[in-house]
Parts: sequence; structure tokens; C-alpha cells
Amino acid sequence: MRETSLPSSERLEAILLVGGQGTRLRPLTLTTPKPLLPTAGVPFLAHQLAKARAHGVSRVVFATSYRASMFTDAFGDGSAFGLEIEYMTEDTPLGTGGAIRNAADALTCSSDAPVLVLNGDILSGHDISAQVDLHLSRGAAVTLHLTEVEDPSRFGCVPTAPDGRVTAFLEKTPNPVTNRINAGCYVFQRSVIDSIPAGEVVSVERETFPGLIEAGELVLGYADASYWLDVGTPAAFVQGSCDLVQGRLRSPALPGVTGESLLLDGAKVSPEAKVTGGTVVGARATVKAGASVRGSVLADDAVIESGAVVVDSVVGAGARVSSGAVLREVVVGDGALIGPGNELTSGVRVWPGVTLPECSVRFSSDV
Ligand code: GTP
Repeated sequence: MRETSLPSSERLEAILLVGGQGTRLRPLTLTTPKPLLPTAGVPFLAHQLAKARAHGVSRVVFATSYRASMFTDAFGDGSAFGLEIEYMTEDTPLGTGGAIRNAADALTCSSDAPVLVLNGDILSGHDISAQVDLHLSRGAAVTLHLTEVEDPSRFGCVPTAPDGRVTAFLEKTPNPVTNRINAGCYVFQRSVIDSIPAGEVVSVERETFPGLIEAGELVLGYADASYWLDVGTPAAFVQGSCDLVQGRLRSPALPGVTGESLLLDGAKVSPEAKVTGGTVVGARATVKAGASVRGSVLADDAVIESGAVVVDSVVGAGARVSSGAVLREVVVGDGALIGPGNELTSGVRVWPGVTLPECSVRFSSDV
């Protein structure tokens, strides 16, 4: 991967937004923040950090809030990842803009330097160096990565002029004017970050960007059509993990080769089981004979008994799916037990530690 055209005397710093509660991914995020969820064998953030490093980022400030200490435990001073990592924690969440402003106190760059800002829940194949170079060559205040989605009505949309200038930041609407949306990766001029009010709750999407546009500042769009996924929902999280395992998105952090499945240390899969579609089988997890697992994430120590079927689902650490149970698009929390014969579908979430007893349907003759 090539690096940016920044002079070698200037190192590129990044702020990583990782303080959200990840409510849409509960119960997985009750104990583990979304950016630390194991994704294709490593914490989700490891993919973003490896990519940022490959594009010349040398120092990263984590903007933490929810379960902040877990990030320090996972990434320490960053040396194991070839980076310098600092942590800035909000006692109460300050929103995306407030978090960026708070984290900026730990930056070392000058006020006219570019700073990369990343949402901590995005998988993207876009060229960060090209985004930074566009920002530098046009002297923009902020340059936003924009991606095109089929149904932009679920997102706010971001129209641009022919020269790339962002003309508005529009809220969700049933009739969006463009299918380009904010892809959650920004290059800010440091001085722009410093102008966000300190210690206040601020949203970059609702306040900072619209304010800059209104003030006539140059807010640029860097649009491309590379791989992009916001892993904020269970379905998207499973999709992202499978895409990494199957090589639809290449990550420098992926342990092992890509293919139909990724088996982590000590995973046991019976030769008479089927494990396909980019499934991850966690460390020491077991898939027994006759079971079928497709496009799913099995966390460490999970057990899938003989004849069970698991499709497009997450099975939490130490959870057990009994013989004959069928799961489709389901999240099973850590340590839960799905008894034999249960059939769960379409968005069902089983909370950690819950036991679903055996499901045996009996027909009475006098009904
Ligand atoms: P949901 O609760 O499921 O919407 O997820 P979320 O809390 O992660 O919110 P969202 O997806 O909107 O956040 C986008 C990114 O900003 C994520 O990487 C969050 O971790 C981060 N984020 C959101 N709010 C805050 C905040 O107040 N402080 C910090 N430090 N980060 C935040």
C-alpha cells in the first residue's frame, strides 16, 4: 500500500472514535465494546489499525468512553501493532464532535496538519492515502470519505458539486437526493478540530459539518466505490466477519489464510460437519458430526452439537446449541444454552446465560 504525500518530517496522526455503547449489537456489546468484538480472529479495531498503519499513520489517539479500560488492556501503548497509541476518555460521552475535540488534546501535530478521524465500526477498502492527498492538494477544511449505497433512505445523504465540494449534510429522508452517504472516515485540518467547543456534547454530523458548509469553508467529498460496511447491526457484523474470512475485503491483520472458514487455535470441527460461507470457529470451539454452520461467527469455546443448524448467526463464548436446534439470523449471548429442537429465526437475540429448554411439540388428541 502506498503512503500519503505528507513530507517525511511530518507524521500522520489519527483519532479513533470508540466510545459508543453499540446498543444495536446487544447483547454482544453488554460486556465487550463493539470495536473490540472478535472479528475474523482479532479485535475489530485491529483491522482498522493495520490499515491506518499501512497508509502511514504512526500515532493514534483513542477517543474512549464506554468500558474505556478494556481498550488499554487490548492495545496497550500500541507497540505490538507498530503504532504509538494514546487514550483520551470522556467521563460522559460527548458525541462524535465532542469526542474528537477532547481527543485532540493528545495530538502532537501543528494546527495546519491533517488529522485522520475514523469511526471505530467501519470496514472499508478505500484508499486512505488518496483521501489525504486530495485534502492536501485542495487545501480543504475537512475531506469526507463518501460511499454509495443502494438504499440511502436509511442514512443521511451528502450531495456534492461537480468539483467535489460538499453542498449539504442532509438528515434521513424517504426521498434522498443522492445515494452518496457519509462513510465515517474524515481528514480534518487540526485547526478545525480545535475550533469545536471543548467539554460539550457535539455531533459532527448534525452540527460541525453543516456549520462549516454554512460558513463557506471547503468541505470536500472523496467518493469511491470500494468495499464498505458499517458493522453496527448483528447482520452487518456477521457479514463483515465472513467477508474478511472469504477475502472479499483484504485485511493486513487477518490471521491465517482466507477461505470457506477460519478455525482458531484449538477449534475442533468433525470431518462429518459442514462449516462454510466464511464462518469463524473460535478458539477451542467445537462443531460436532452432522452439524451444519454457514456464514456465522462462533466465539471461543462455543459448542454446536450433532445435527444442529446455524446460519448467518453469532454464537457467543461458551454458548451451546443442542442437537436438532436450528438458528437463522440469531444472536446467542455468551454462555447461553439452546436446548434441543428449538428453531429461532430473523433477529432473535438470546441474552447471556439464558437457557432455552428442550422444545418438544406434542399434539393432544382432545384438541
Ligand atoms: P449504536 O448505539 O448501536 O448506534 O452504536 P454506537 O454507540 O457505536 O454509535 P454510532 O454507530 O453512531 O457511532 C459511530 C462511532 O462513533 C462509533 O465508532 C462509536 O464508538 C463512536 N461514538 C459515538 N458516540 C460517541 C461518543 O459520545 N464518544 C466517543 N468517544 N465515541 C462515540
